[in-house]
Amino acid sequence: MDHIRIRKNSLWIENILAFKLARIYKTPFYCYSLSQLKNNFNSFNNIFKATKPIICFSVKSNSNLTLLRELKKLGSGADVVSIGELLKAIKAGINPKKIVFSGVGKTEEEIRTAINKKILLINVESESEANLINKISKKLSRKTSIGIRLNPNVTGKTHKKISTGGKNEKFGLLYKDYINLCQKINKMRNLKLEGLSVHIGSQITSIKPFKEVLSVLNKILNKTKINFKFIDLGGGMGIPYSSKEKKINLKQYSILVQKFSKNKNVKIIFEPGRFIVGNTAVLISKIIYIKKGNNKKFVILNAGMNNLMRPALYDSHHQIIPLKRTNKLFKGNLEFVGPVCENSDKFANQKNFWQIKEGDYIALANVGAYGMSLSSNYNTRPTVAEVMVSGSKHKMIKKRQSLENLVNN
Ligand code: LLP
Repeated sequence: MDHIRIRKNSLWIENILAFKLARIYKTPFYCYSLSQLKNNFNSFNNIFKATKPIICFSVKSNSNLTLLRELKKLGSGADVVSIGELLKAIKAGINPKKIVFSGVGKTEEEIRTAINKKILLINVESESEANLINKISKKLSRKTSIGIRLNPNVTGKTHKKISTGGKNEKFGLLYKDYINLCQKINKMRNLKLEGLSVHIGSQITSIKPFKEVLSVLNKILNKTKINFKFIDLGGGMGIPYSSKEKKINLKQYSILVQKFSKNKNVKIIFEPGRFIVGNTAVLISKIIYIKKGNNKKFVILNAGMNNLMRPALYDSHHQIIPLKRTNKLFKGNLEFVGPVCENSDKFANQKNFWQIKEGDYIALANVGAYGMSLSSNYNTRPTVAEVMVSGSKHKMIKKRQSLENLVNN
């Protein structure tokens, strides 16, 4: 069931009218549904229950501490890509033995911290990185568990800026280099090669590329004859952003994974981000002005691209929902924009939208993943508050950045 929905012309977050929240908290603010979060995690878990994977929530998609704590309670691990994410995941109580560390540019400090915290796997992306981890491990008298990330040369149909599995991208090692590094690692005495990891991109809604990845993995496993303890299949499972977009058939993917892991004595890891948090939040904003333009009206919001980068970065569409709908439609063209001094500070063009006026509130939908986590202080604007709703209760889970903090730093 959707916990963020329109009922009787009003937007509801679980049992609370979004309009009521807009009167309590200063807009713009992100508003999450805890039940939706739990639903998503449990349904992912349930779909893959036959393979009993370790689910490492991808912290880059949302690093709110309360949200991470809730995911921890549900049994989640974490996929991290920086020392900040690593320390936050640990602070949220996530077991280090359920944390994997990915990324092409881990620094010495990050590697040392990951080793000291005894995380499950550092997913290595280059020979130089393997050498450095080996050197640091030696100094610390440790044998560090690592995975190696493969570049499978498989691309999912998604926006080119979030496709990472192609052979020209910086991520992972190509087939030949992969095999070579596996052989060299045998000689690195302070490393323990335990994992094979792969991640081909984000917002992938067809299982075809995932199927291709599994067949590339089988090829590598046959060639290397290594009994990897862990196979980390990454994240990337997409979500529908509009009613026209279809849902990924995860059930079918789970059957493929089950077949793949059968007789392999391997633990599967997933790193989902968007699938877990994408539809758990809306960004609630106020219409400051409506201004006449050439053949259209600009609807100027108090949320800008610094609060929600995705439309400017990936041309992504986030549905716009008036918190209270009128029954009348406005026939002309509307362009929803933010206050930031950039042409790309634009959320959507709408035709036949409900009638709206200055001072009304709207919500930008499906912003739980890469919404707050991608936000910035551009135009010296503060980062906004985050609010969580559970049933009929609501609480602030992150304060809006104070002007004092903004101005003095
Ligand atoms: N694992 C690795 C190694 C990744 O690089 C990513 C995402 C994930 C897991 C999680 O992917 P997800 O399940 O969320 O698709 N900012 C972009 C998305 C960038 C994704 C980066 N890597 C957006 O807003 O669409």
